Order: sequence, then structure tokens, then C-alpha cells
Amino acid sequence: MCDVENEINSEKIGFIGAGKICRTLAPNLNSAGFNIHGVYSSNKSSSHNICKLISNECKPYQTPQELVDNCDLIFITTPDDSIQKVTESIKWRGNMGVVHCSGAGTSFWLYKAKSDGASVASYHPLQTFSNDNSDITLKNVYFAIEGDLSLIEYLKNVTDKLGGFPLSIASEHKLLYHVSAFMSCGLIATVIGKAVDIWKSIGYSEKQALDFLTPLMEQTIHNVSQNGVLDSLTGPISRGDIGTIKGHIDSLKKHKPSLLSTYCALSLANISIELERKTDKTLEEIELLLKSTISAIHTESVA
Ligand SMILES: NC(=O)c1ccc[n+]([C@@H]2O[C@H](COP(=O)([O-])OP(=O)(O)OC[C@H]3O[C@@H](n4cnc5c(N)ncnc54)[C@H](OP(=O)(O)O)[C@@H]3O)[C@@H](O)[C@H]2O)c1
Repeated sequence: MCDVENEINSEKIGFIGAGKICRTLAPNLNSAGFNIHGVYSSNKSSSHNICKLISNECKPYQTPQELVDNCDLIFITTPDDSIQKVTESIKWRGNMGVVHCSGAGTSFWLYKAKSDGASVASYHPLQTFSNDNSDITLKNVYFAIEGDLSLIEYLKNVTDKLGGFPLSIASEHKLLYHVSAFMSCGLIATVIGKAVDIWKSIGYSEKQALDFLTPLMEQTIHNVSQNGVLDSLTGPISRGDIGTIKGHIDSLKKHKPSLLSTYCALSLANISIELERKTDKTLEEIELLLKSTISAIHTESVA
């Protein structure tokens, strides 16, 4: 593909897969002056909806091949498991770029495009996009970029224009990098979901629970990002309150047994971080208590 910086805005960009990330990335690129030429998605109405968000010049395409034949750069924004299949179904050409946005996969997923002569890269915004996020900006977001050098340089320029920051992740580290992203987003939301379940079991709605918990969650995220992990750990494990931990375990056994193993596993992770700060007898006792609770759960489940 053409990598002349001055021509960056004249290159025709296409998207295959009109879902959540496309709904944010395509309008943001358009606002940054890039030419979003067209969209193809398995469902026609999805492509139409994205084009409407962008401009009259952005066209919904009937086939991915037609879109590719009319673009200089293609973002494949289908679910991860479809990226290779989509790439293999298309005849690519030299002098064009092909990018996917998965955090888990490398540019190797685009090997068919590469063998047809295209430049390939993976381009993962370290941000979360849900269905109603089309108006969020990508300012200050980090983008993990990996792939062919000329395309990496081009994508660094794109990132700069979006107000984000490029992040270099070697292909052999991409999966681990993605585990970290998943833990900081989907798994945090999962833990919150489990905390909300407790409120529901004592008669409050999800909305009420989230209203009650939000100041606590926001302050926690603020503390972690400003002061680091160790200085933000509070709660009975940091204080060494083994009596409180015993109380939690008894209460969960009685009222929420399905949450017990998650509670113990997360508490053990909490201890492993606390141990970076100090080793003391109470922490070891709490660790023992949690481990014996987990093994009792396993014994009961096989009995
Ligand atoms: N969402 C995030 O927070 C996020 C963050 C960073 C990176 N990513 C990455 O971005 C990529 C897309 O994720 P997403 O969350 O946007 O997924 P998504 O909301 O599920 O959207 C993907 C869309 O692709 C379309 N599609 C599926 N199979 C297709 C095919 N074979 N050909 C053409 N279109 C197809 C579907 O659209 P229709 O059926 O409606 O046409 C679907 O809505 C993934 O690689 C993901 O890892 C996502």
C-alpha cells in the first residue's frame, strides 16, 4: 500500500464487519480526516447503519471482494474466529494494506492477504466498545500494533491523528497481552456482576446496586491508577482480619455457595500481592483457610 504520509487522508478505507468496534473506529477515523469509503457486513442493515453514521460518500457494499477491490486499506472487524476465514475468501493485491483489530491474534491471521502481496498488521485499541459507544473518542487510548514495518509506520500515523498512542507488542506476546486486557475489562465487569448478584439476593435491583457501588468502584480505579496496586489494596486481607474472612466464608456457604470458590480464588490472588509487601503469620493463616475451603469445595463436588 501507499505509505506516503501526505497522502494518508486520500487513501480509501473499507471495513469488513459492522459491529461494535467499527461503529466507533470508522466515525473516529472519518472525523480525523480519513476517507471511509465503504463497509461490508454479513447483515446488510448493519453496513447501512454505519454508513449513515459517517457520510454520504461512505457506501454499503454487497460483497467483501467488491469493497476490497475499491479500497487501499481494509480493516477486518469481524469476531476473532471469522478473521482468517474472511481473509481466505478474498483475492487481495499488492499496494494495499489489510488490518485486523483483535488483541489476541497476530498479523499471521492475515497470511492469505500477505501471500497475495498485501501488507498486513494487527491494530488493537486497548479500549472497550459496547453497542452505544459510537460517540466515544479514541483520544489517549493505546493501540497495540504489530505486523509489516511499512504498515506499522502508517498505523502509528493513524493513531497520532486519532489522539491515541502506539504500543509495540511482539507477536509472541500478543496472547499474554490480551489476557491482561481481558482481566482489566471483561473480568473486572464479571467480578462487579458477582458483587451485584449479592445485592439482588438481599432485595435490591441491579440499578440500585450499581448506584451504591459506583463511588467505591470509581475511587478504587482512581487509587490504583494514581498510587499503584499495592497502595490501593484495602480490606480484611490487607488488615489481617482473619475473623472477618471466616465470617465471609460462613455467610457465603449459607447464602451464596456458588460464589465461594470465586471468592477464595480472588482472595488468594489478593494475598499473593500482599505478600510482595510483607510476610506475616496472619496472612499465612488466611491463605491456609482459603486453600482448605477450596479443597473442601472440590471434595464435595466429586463426592
Ligand atoms: N468490542 C470491543 O470492545 C473490542 C475492543 C478491541 C478489539 N476488538 C476486536 O474487534 C473485532 C470486532 O469485535 P466487535 O466487538 O466489534 O464484534 P461484534 O460487535 O460482534 O461485530 C462484528 C460484526 O461483524 C459482522 N460479521 C460477522 N461475521 C462476518 C463475516 N463473516 N463477514 C462479514 N461480517 C461479519 C457481524 O455484523 P452483522 O451480522 O451485524 O452484519 C458482527 O456484528 C474483534 O477482532 C475484537 O477482538 C473489540
